[in-house]
Amino acid sequence: MKAEETVRKAREQEACIPAFNVPYLSMVKPVIQAVVDENSIAMVQIARVEWEKFEAESLERVAEEYEKYKKEGYTLLHLDHIPVIDEDYQQVDYMAFLERAVRAGYQSLMVDGSRLPLEENIRVTKEAVRLAHEAGIACEAELGAVMGHENREMPPYEEIFASRTGFTKTEEAERFVKESGCSWLSVAVGNVHGQIAEAFRDRKKPQARLDVEHIRELHQAVQIPLVLHGGSGVRQQDILEGIAAGIAKINVGTELRQTYEAALKEGDGDVSCAQDRLYHRVRAYIADYLHNTDLKDRLSQ
Ligand code: 13P
Repeated sequence: MKAEETVRKAREQEACIPAFNVPYLSMVKPVIQAVVDENSIAMVQIARVEWEKFEAESLERVAEEYEKYKKEGYTLLHLDHIPVIDEDYQQVDYMAFLERAVRAGYQSLMVDGSRLPLEENIRVTKEAVRLAHEAGIACEAELGAVMGHENREMPPYEEIFASRTGFTKTEEAERFVKESGCSWLSVAVGNVHGQIAEAFRDRKKPQARLDVEHIRELHQAVQIPLVLHGGSGVRQQDILEGIAAGIAKINVGTELRQTYEAALKEGDGDVSCAQDRLYHRVRAYIADYLHNTDLKDRLSQ
């Protein structure tokens, strides 16, 4: 199963492939088991910030853990956020990470040049797309600012939504996709990331809303699948309408991490108990929230 084709098929059927972040290696097994038991399809993914600030160790360690439990036809391995400028505003040798991910067997990659001016974001994305396409895999990119990973307080959520701070601009998106050749575009349409800096990471995320009309307009302009980052805690109706309007991949991190961490804490570090709690949470997310039970059968038709 190829990631590019899977996301394209999801889009054609107005469905969506969730991509679950695994900041702890022991999250990989229950996430995969939940996807298989729902007869669904999902990605397992890791971002650089997660192996740096949590316990996933490295992209290679996540790939090794994934290899142990993966299930062909149900799961895919994706490399999430490799920033060009990171959340602490440091330059990153992004191509080195992307090359390592190709060698480790990742099936799709994301380069995140969203903290750069448009021209430079196009230039770095083109470079990443070339690498990914030579390896025969898909490349996701980001345009607009999905806030939350930075190490500082965010403005109140309603203020972000009302002022459309960081929202992806349609004309820029059209040009960006045409010139960069990216496979999928991560957009800012009311979504925010759950915060991960030490001081904020245990907070409950504010419930986000989506500007569904803007999603529709962006999708019509770029004609490629859109990606929604910050998938935790978004109003369900907005998610379902957003999928119908053009979202075909949704990233989910905070609500799974906080479920896992809370269970670990309650169980005095008992990993299998936390894995069990996470397993049920992922199943509920797939079944009740995304209505993705049996997605595997739907996409193979
Ligand atoms: P949340 O942590 O808000 O679910 O966002 C996850 C994400 O977008 C990872 O790229």
